[in-house]
Amino acid sequence: MKRIAVLTTGGDAPGMNAAIRSVVRYGLNQKLEVMGVFRGWWGLINEELKVFSHRSVSGIINQGGTILKTARCHEFYTEEGQSRAYETVKKYGIDGLAVIGGNGSFTAAHLFGRKYNIPCIGIPASIDNDVNGIDITIGADTAINTALSAIDNIRDTATSMERIFVVEVMGRDCGYIALSVALGGGCEEVMIPERKSDINAICHDIVNGNLRGKMSWIIVVAEGSGNAPDIAKQINEITGLETRPVVLGHIQRGGRPTAISRDLALHLGRAAVDALIRGDSDKVVGFKESKIVSIDFEIAIVKKYFNYENMYKLVKELS
Ligand code: F6P
Repeated sequence: MKRIAVLTTGGDAPGMNAAIRSVVRYGLNQKLEVMGVFRGWWGLINEELKVFSHRSVSGIINQGGTILKTARCHEFYTEEGQSRAYETVKKYGIDGLAVIGGNGSFTAAHLFGRKYNIPCIGIPASIDNDVNGIDITIGADTAINTALSAIDNIRDTATSMERIFVVEVMGRDCGYIALSVALGGGCEEVMIPERKSDINAICHDIVNGNLRGKMSWIIVVAEGSGNAPDIAKQINEITGLETRPVVLGHIQRGGRPTAISRDLALHLGRAAVDALIRGDSDKVVGFKESKIVSIDFEIAIVKKYFNYENMYKLVKELS
């Protein structure tokens, strides 16, 4: 292994820059050459890459987003896109790829790496925490803290004006952000894709609570289980109580990475380089039960299993 390349693909996540820094600096210190590929798979298809030095990643550890840019590249799923990307890999003598992204990125890396026999190691970064087989992705902790701070603000107005709020957070297929903020934010209800919600039962609880003198509620909705404006409208129609929707949207994707997101990124960047040097391929490095593990892409890309029942139960037990 002489030369590796690093890229970020899919939705950006805070801490991606720290992961890039780790791959570049550790790789160079291991006497590898390291290239940065711009705009994810698109950059491999279109030859947008350059040799990185220690200085290329100065001053980025605390920045959200990704200096390499990122994209959702549909062309990479075509024969032509993949073969052009492979031509770039050959032309620049790239012996291995460190792919920073989520499960969509790993699906692509799994296909590409096996098809052309190119070692690919995934570094899990996604605010959704939807990578199976590991505890937490880079960026999830930051997004949760961003959403939590918004929930804290909403609580002030919800309590003061005695209203119901329905707050939509990100999480296409995974309710991890929603459950974490509902727990930390002391919210009364949470709707997640993993679990079927019953709007009538929720309204029944609200009306009963209201009769006992409970005047404000915060209901967190993961985007994969519904949208806040529709749900707020339904709750208002069923209960007759004033209900406001808030969609937090992309503010959850930005911002300075928390210590947890940075720490994860720095450790996993190094682990990915070590894996490439060892000759590993088709794997994701990640933390599981406080240890760095390496799992097959095939396991990482299936629907994430986590103990959502327990988190949901605690939200309800404390509401
Ligand atoms: O990166 C994950 C995610 O933030 C999902 O939670 C969300 O559904 C999606 O990305 C939004 O993607 P885009 O920014 O491409 O619309």
